[in-house]
Amino acid sequence: MLRICVCVSGGGTNLQAVMDAIDTGKITNAQIVRVISNNRGAYALERAKSRGIDAAAVSPKDYEDRECFNEALLACVDGAEPDLVVLAGFLVVLPPMMIKKYEGRIINIHPSLIPSFCGKGFYGLKVHEAVLARGVKITGATVHFVDEGTDTGPIILQKAVEVLPDDTPRVLQQRVMEQAEWVILPQAIHIIANGLL
Ligand code: GRF
Repeated sequence: MLRICVCVSGGGTNLQAVMDAIDTGKITNAQIVRVISNNRGAYALERAKSRGIDAAAVSPKDYEDRECFNEALLACVDGAEPDLVVLAGFLVVLPPMMIKKYEGRIINIHPSLIPSFCGKGFYGLKVHEAVLARGVKITGATVHFVDEGTDTGPIILQKAVEVLPDDTPRVLQQRVMEQAEWVILPQAIHIIANGLL
């Protein structure tokens, strides 16, 4: 059974998609052992608790400096003894120490077709604003391994989504989540959990 630790910052709809996929058997051989948020008020923590999953907040605000926060975050991840760390809308730059320790065992979901609209500054709605500003007709989402760079690690899965003429960043964000993110994040976990990569 693959032990998963999910890191989140916000609403947690990707976390929800993973929990649902485990419940319905779309993901097999995996369990979520802990959900960690850098944001105490993240609704994602409520989603975890309501499923009886261990939920922890590790906020930079509670620590003297970045170094102390980084240590606390890594300790919280380590405590879950995960085989896989899933970043599902986690808006924290990971401590280099953590990336090293969990090399090949951290995956991230990014709301564009990497290498387009990724890297520094491309997160949340900003990705979809940039997509619309450039006028591309196809966007999508990517699940990839995390390395020391920003959105540079090996790609696991991608799914394309159409951009429509009247899209606003929020409308497009929702479509990318529904049609791509909530589909390929569970798929990627299933693939890893079953040695199919
Ligand atoms: C998603 O768009 C994800 O790709 C991005 O942050 C958003 C998270 O949404 N990195 P949620 O918290 O899973 O609802």
